[in-house]
Amino acid sequence: MLNFDYSIPTKVFFGKDKISVLPKQIKKYGTKVLLVYGGGSIKKNGLYDDIVKGLNANSIDFWELSGVEPNPRITTVRKGVEICRKNKIDLVLAAGGGSSIDCSKAIAAAYYYEGDAWDIVKDPSKISKVLPIATVLTLAATGSEMDTFAVITDMDINEKLGTGHPDMVPRFSILDPTYTFSVPQYQTASGTADIMSHTFEAYFSSIKEAFLQDRMAEAILKTCINYGKTAMEDPKNYEARSNLMWASSLAINGLLSFGKDSNWVVHPMEHELSAYYDITHGVGLSILTPHWMKYILDDSTVDKFVEFGVNVWDIEKGPDKYAIANAAIAKTREYFVSLGIPTKLSEVGIDESNLEEMAKKSVRYGKIGSLKPIDHNDVLNIFKSAL
Ligand code: NZQ
Ligand code: ZN
Repeated sequence: MLNFDYSIPTKVFFGKDKISVLPKQIKKYGTKVLLVYGGGSIKKNGLYDDIVKGLNANSIDFWELSGVEPNPRITTVRKGVEICRKNKIDLVLAAGGGSSIDCSKAIAAAYYYEGDAWDIVKDPSKISKVLPIATVLTLAATGSEMDTFAVITDMDINEKLGTGHPDMVPRFSILDPTYTFSVPQYQTASGTADIMSHTFEAYFSSIKEAFLQDRMAEAILKTCINYGKTAMEDPKNYEARSNLMWASSLAINGLLSFGKDSNWVVHPMEHELSAYYDITHGVGLSILTPHWMKYILDDSTVDKFVEFGVNVWDIEKGPDKYAIANAAIAKTREYFVSLGIPTKLSEVGIDESNLEEMAKKSVRYGKIGSLKPIDHNDVLNIFKSAL
């Protein structure tokens, strides 16, 4: 196991009616809040009213930034920074999924930066100070409620980039699974696939002796497999929604990756698809994942796939390692199909025209992947096989 510094500072308030802690927690940071949310789902499911009631009853002033796009845009971040500066905001409160949270994080980080907000997305080293951030999560997916990253898009130049800073981690996050009851089937499926992909990024690592982290990863994968479909078919199933919600946070908050090397592979590929075609993140991941798995399967990786097949998919142990590995990959693909997610890039409007450019950009910082690093040609082959 590699050395690591454990730090997961976000205070989590988990469970039904936990929204009641919001005013008191906000007041630790001040009384002026920017409330950031998306296209209106929080107005339909009652969260907006719950927040506003709490803020008004506790003399907390708030301004609103609504309409944050899935795949949040830099233009929206800029608007948020302006509101914060004009009104001397004390805390940025995101109410929504990963997009509203990421937008809030970028606003909070750009607030203290004198230049354009896109600079701190392109170059995280420009971030020196960050406004306090808090979240009320409504979609189990990205884990942004408990991590230090934000992913922001500039559609004009087809760039979707991740940025991050230790102070971009939310100070507190309210995780009430009942706010996810209204998540539609497609987003539930996509979110589940995203949680699984974060887990894969940590699990398929070259560090072999992190036994404990790998067992925790398998538990998260089993949780997604066990509850993803239930949440789709029975959206108000609290057991399913609560397990998925906690899996979302634990998959990417560091717990699975401390002590391991971290060089993500399917995410950099997917971010290019979203940057060019504005597709749903989890859908892109689940299309690419089985193709990537198949592509990297060889003598150097087969043992890891056997571990995955036996421990996650309950495939019986046997002498033929490749049979187990291939069965595990097939089961992964079948699971995504059972969630109703498309299996081909062409189904989400992607054709050959930008593959070369997207492949180049996927490896802009060098080879990607830990268990078996891949280069530009490999990415292109994976894209082509997924067409
Ligand atoms: O905009 P509203 O009206 O809220 O509707 C949203 C949106 O249409 C809807 N939704 C969310 N909660 C709902 C709901 N609808 C009904 N009821 C609810 N309770 O779902 C749609 C998608 O929301 P979004 O926030 O975009 O989804 P997600 O949480 O999957 O976030 C995706 C973004 O996060 C980035 C992705 O790349 C993408 O830009 N990621 C962020 C990461 C991070 N910060 O660590 C890591 C991830 O790997 C990922 O890259
Ligand atoms: Zn993701």
